[in-house]
Amino acid sequence: MSGAGTHGALVQKQFSPRAASYVASLVHAQGEDLERLAAWARQHHPGDVLDLGCGGGHVSFAVAPHAGRVVACDASAEMLLAVAHEAQAREMGNIEVREAWAERLPFEDGSFDLVASRFSAHHWQALGPGLSEARRVLRPGGTAIFIDTVAPPVALLETLLDTWLQTIELMRDPSHVRDWSAAQWVAALQAAGFAPGTPQFFRRRLDFNAWIERMATPPNIIAAVRALQQQAPEEVRRHFAIERDGSFEIDVAWLSC
Ligand SMILES: C[S@@+](CC[C@H](N)C(=O)[O-])C[C@H]1O[C@@H](n2cnc3c(N)ncnc32)[C@H](O)[C@@H]1O
Repeated sequence: MSGAGTHGALVQKQFSPRAASYVASLVHAQGEDLERLAAWARQHHPGDVLDLGCGGGHVSFAVAPHAGRVVACDASAEMLLAVAHEAQAREMGNIEVREAWAERLPFEDGSFDLVASRFSAHHWQALGPGLSEARRVLRPGGTAIFIDTVAPPVALLETLLDTWLQTIELMRDPSHVRDWSAAQWVAALQAAGFAPGTPQFFRRRLDFNAWIERMATPPNIIAAVRALQQQAPEEVRRHFAIERDGSFEIDVAWLSC
């Protein structure tokens, strides 16, 4: 998946040098969605948990106090080193790390009671194979929770808002693939054999400077993103709550199966 010049190599190139900033990132370390995940784990005490596309490990850290074993899994070895280091600092001995692509998981069928994936699937080369693998490694009766940025669910403005969102996402980070709409998520989950519940939505504010610095976007591209934002039509400005400094809000969906 990560031969020279491939999308996989680009994912690793984008994320590996930024492991420490993902561990420290406030927008990843906090949020109503993370609190809900922790509450879910507190209530259900899952034995084995898979954090798929763990990044800086915030899902793992949120559920580990209430779980038997947590496997933090990511395509970036550097990200996993940072997660292992942070887990040790937090004295969370039940977190282990495993390097793998979501599309090809090195786990037996039915290995996990909870598979959770947060803000990762929009980088996957193809959503379907990753979801099929998540379904395969989930124990019968287990729960899968997917949380990701989604294309805005606004009637009659979907295409307009979708185009603006994907464009600035790709400019800021060329390993971006797609913020799928909630309807596309539901269809993909069903095709993978899941029975998803009704999606729930959150709004999340992204501070422009932190967002752009986290991915080390080059100055000429930053200028292009700002120039584009300044030309955005009223419907786009309003929906994304674009501020004077470029900070804006995204839609996040919680999909539980
Ligand atoms: C934005 S970070 C994840 C944030 C983290 N889950 C959290 O809740 O803070 C995205 C992560 O997905 C990983 N990733 C992207 N594509 C992947 C794939 N196909 N398989 C496994 N990991 C992937 C990247 O290496 C990166 O660490």
